[in-house]
Amino acid sequence: MSSGLIRRDNGHGKTHYFASSDESKICVVMVGLPARGKSLIAGKAMRYLAWVGIPARVFNVGTYRRQGTPQPSATFFDPHNEEGEKMRRAAADAAITDMIQWFDAGKGVVAILDATNSTKERRRWINERCQEANIETLYVESICDEEDLIMNNILEVKTTSPDYKGQDPEVAARDFRERIRNYEKVYETIDDGEKSYTYVKLINVGSTVIINQIKDYLSSRLVYYIQNLHIKPRSIWLSRHGESEYNLTGKIGGDSNISERGEAYAKALPGLLKKSGVPPNTKIVIWTSTLKRTIQTARHLAAETGFEKLEWKALDELDSGVCDGLTYEQIAEKYPEDFAARDEDKYNYRYRGGESYRDVVIRLEPIIMELERSENVIIVTHQAVLRCIYAYFLNTPQEQSPWMEVPLHTLIKLTPRAYGTEEQRFKADIPAVSTWRAKGTSAKHQEYSTETKA
Ligand code: SIN
Repeated sequence: MSSGLIRRDNGHGKTHYFASSDESKICVVMVGLPARGKSLIAGKAMRYLAWVGIPARVFNVGTYRRQGTPQPSATFFDPHNEEGEKMRRAAADAAITDMIQWFDAGKGVVAILDATNSTKERRRWINERCQEANIETLYVESICDEEDLIMNNILEVKTTSPDYKGQDPEVAARDFRERIRNYEKVYETIDDGEKSYTYVKLINVGSTVIINQIKDYLSSRLVYYIQNLHIKPRSIWLSRHGESEYNLTGKIGGDSNISERGEAYAKALPGLLKKSGVPPNTKIVIWTSTLKRTIQTARHLAAETGFEKLEWKALDELDSGVCDGLTYEQIAEKYPEDFAARDEDKYNYRYRGGESYRDVVIRLEPIIMELERSENVIIVTHQAVLRCIYAYFLNTPQEQSPWMEVPLHTLIKLTPRAYGTEEQRFKADIPAVSTWRAKGTSAKHQEYSTETKA
C-alpha cells in the first residue's frame, strides 16, 4: 500500500490533507478495564489527528448503552447477568454499525472505538466486522496497576460521568469499584494468541509500551503519539514576546528587539507567572524561539527563577517570505491578490517564498510530541505559532485558528484535565499595540492601546 500526503476535496468546499495510505480506514479499538484512562487517550488521539488534518471521531459504546440504560448499577455489568450482557452487546453493535456508516459516507479516516473490549471473543467479533467492511484495526490496550492513577480516574468518573449524575459521590465510587470487579472477572489481556492483530499495550501510561505488527505510516504516527502521552498533573503557559520595535511600526516578521514596553513586560513576567498559581517547588522549563524578541522576553524569568531554558528553531514565527518587513497596508498595496487570497483561506495560504499556517503545524509536530512527554513548560513565542499550539490544546477548528486573538502582554495558562483543557488568562498591566487584524481589513496596528480588539 502506498503512503503519502493526499489532498482530497470532501465536496463541501473543504480540503483535507491526509497523511495516510490511499484508501485506508483505521479503527482504533481501545481495550482495558474501566478507569484506565482509555477515554482520555481516545480524546487526545482524536484532537491530535484533527490538528494534523486527519478527520477522526470517537465512538463511545457507553454513550450508546446510555440510550437504553442511562444509570445502571454495577450488577448490570455482572457477566452472569444475561439481560445486561445482551444490552451491552447491542450497544457495541450500534456503535460499530454507526462507525461503518460514517466511514462509508467518506466522513473520516480514523475511528476510535472507546469501550472496554475486554474479552478475546469481543475483539475477534470487532475484527470480523471491520474486516468485512475493509477497515484496518489497531488495538490500544491500557493496563494500569498504579493505585494512585486508578484512584484519580475513579474520582474523575464519579464526578463527571453521566452514569452517576445526581448521585451521592461515595455511593457512586462504591458502585464504580464494584463495576470494575465485575469486568475483572472476565478480563483477558491481549496476549500471544492475538499476535496477528496490530496492537499497542501501554503499561501505566507511558512507562512501558509493547508494540506489535504496525503496518502503515498513519498507524505508526498514531502509535508514536500515544506512546509519548503521560497523565501526570501539569500546566503549560503560553506567552507572546513582549511588544517589539516592529510591532510599533506595524511591520510583520523580522528579528527586531523588544520595545521599552516589551522590556517592562519581560520584567513583569516572573511575577505574572507566580500570580497564575505555581505550586511550591514546581520545576518549569522555558522554551523560546531563536528570535531576539522571545529570548529577550524570557531573560528576566530565566535569571530570577534559574529555570532551564531551551531555544527551538521550530518555534520561530511563520515565515512571511517576500512580505517580511512590510506592514499589512503595504502588503495589500503591493500584493493585492495575495492579500485577498490569504483572507479567503488563511490556514492554507502560503506567503510567496514563505509559509502557511498548515506548514507551521507540520513543523510544530515534534514540539507537540515533546510537550506531551514533558511536564511544566512555559513557551514564549510568536502570534501564529502560539495560535497553532493553542489550537492543538483547545481543539480549535483550522478555519478559526489563524484568526484567533492572542494579545501581547498576556500569559495564558493551560491545564490538561481528563475531559479537556482548562484555560486561564493573566493580563499584565502594561500597554501594547494591538497586532490583531480582522478578516477583510488592512487595519493599521493600533497604537498605544491596552485594548485587545482591533
Ligand atoms: C458501558 O456500557 O459503559 C461501556 C461498555 C463497555 O465498554 O464494556
